[in-house]
Amino acid sequence: MKKMLWGGRFGEGPSADTILFNSSENIQLDAELIPYDILGSLAHVRMLYKQEIISTAEYEGISSALKSVYSQWEGDAFILRPDLEDVHMNVEAAVTAMTPAGKKMHTARSRNDQVLLDMRLYMRDRALGLILEMEGLQKAFAALSEKDGPMAAYTHTRVAQPITISFWCESWVDSLGRDIDRLKEAYGRLNANPLGACAIAGTAWKIDRKETARLLAFNSVQENALDAISSRGECEAEMLFCMSLAMCKLSRLSEELIWLSQKGLLGIAEKHTTGSSIMPNKKNPDVLELIRGRCGRVYGSLAHALIALKGTMGGYNSDMQETKYALMSGSDTTAACLQAMAGVVSGLTFNRGAIERELESGYAQATEIADFLALNGMPFREAHEKAGKLVRHCEDKGAGISALSAKEAGTVLGCAIKESDWASLKGFGRKRLNRRVTVKAPTFAREEKERIEEAYQKLV
Ligand code: ARG
Repeated sequence: MKKMLWGGRFGEGPSADTILFNSSENIQLDAELIPYDILGSLAHVRMLYKQEIISTAEYEGISSALKSVYSQWEGDAFILRPDLEDVHMNVEAAVTAMTPAGKKMHTARSRNDQVLLDMRLYMRDRALGLILEMEGLQKAFAALSEKDGPMAAYTHTRVAQPITISFWCESWVDSLGRDIDRLKEAYGRLNANPLGACAIAGTAWKIDRKETARLLAFNSVQENALDAISSRGECEAEMLFCMSLAMCKLSRLSEELIWLSQKGLLGIAEKHTTGSSIMPNKKNPDVLELIRGRCGRVYGSLAHALIALKGTMGGYNSDMQETKYALMSGSDTTAACLQAMAGVVSGLTFNRGAIERELESGYAQATEIADFLALNGMPFREAHEKAGKLVRHCEDKGAGISALSAKEAGTVLGCAIKESDWASLKGFGRKRLNRRVTVKAPTFAREEKERIEEAYQKLV
């Protein structure tokens, strides 16, 4: 049994199997945390030095060792060893191998607040990345709206009323705007410094938590140490909820696009489809099906995080480590799906002839006709009945509403209709169908990324 950094009270210590069980999967996830762990340690030791807890020479020794580990990481040369348990122990061991002062870097800190810190820094990046992906999808819809024209809106999957392509695009832009807002709000809560909470009860060392918050570009300090440590997993679960709702949206959009394309109303670019190994005729919308399917993974990650937390007492419990897997897997899936969806949306085409036929066969003009009658004095319930009769008349005749003359329509509706009124009522080219989407240039995620990058630059 090799000696662990915390091995003082142990005799034989944990078996190789125990270490493997605890760490083999976690260490792969921890590879993602390396830069954040190093940045967090740089801020921590700078603060210890400013507070005169470590000497100038010790500070310089530790920080230059940390910077050299950072360069190794940048060159893909810092590989985590599972026998050292986790990223925190790996970095500390690497620093201590370079300078004996490394043995002081864990003063006034615990892995409990350290992992919280690493995860907050990591999640900040992931949240901003997801916001950028969402904005990318909004932009894809904004560009698509330029292919404007009529389109059918559906309720109960049956033709309801005519809308425009740009109106449909705008609905997705607005909807994604709420996903962005939700993530921004979650971001606000996770942007608080947990460092200095230590194991659970804070510390009597004269540390300066505001200083580490400033160095790491946090907006505030998470004051109560017990609360800070117990909150592990909460931001993860909240982010996973934001991602779950976004994935729900992507899944519904996938379903809608699959359905509309199956009806021949829109086309999915060939580059987003694949064929069959046996049926030469097939062109399948795999990307969309996979996005729809992967929604379940992200829901699963949310459930994983919530369930991992629910039985834990206040303070640190190893169950909390599970939320790392849930968060990382959920973020990877959501980001990839957002990106893939932006690609699919950019490549969509519309089949105008098929859309016209769809509107016609669904008698999509009926509500407008009822409104027209009501506007001319007929009570709406009566107007609804009359327009319904008109639909029935067309159905019996096997013709669309636009095939009727003004005279014939007037007879069925029981009122005279002017030629010019009928011409606009029976078609789908009216000016109200001419909406345009405008998406403002996104700035939040980009500006916030810059602010953080600037703070990090000063550290390394
Ligand atoms: N690898 C651990 C995690 O991700 C780090 C914290 C370990 N703390 C402890 N007391 N064992 O949760």
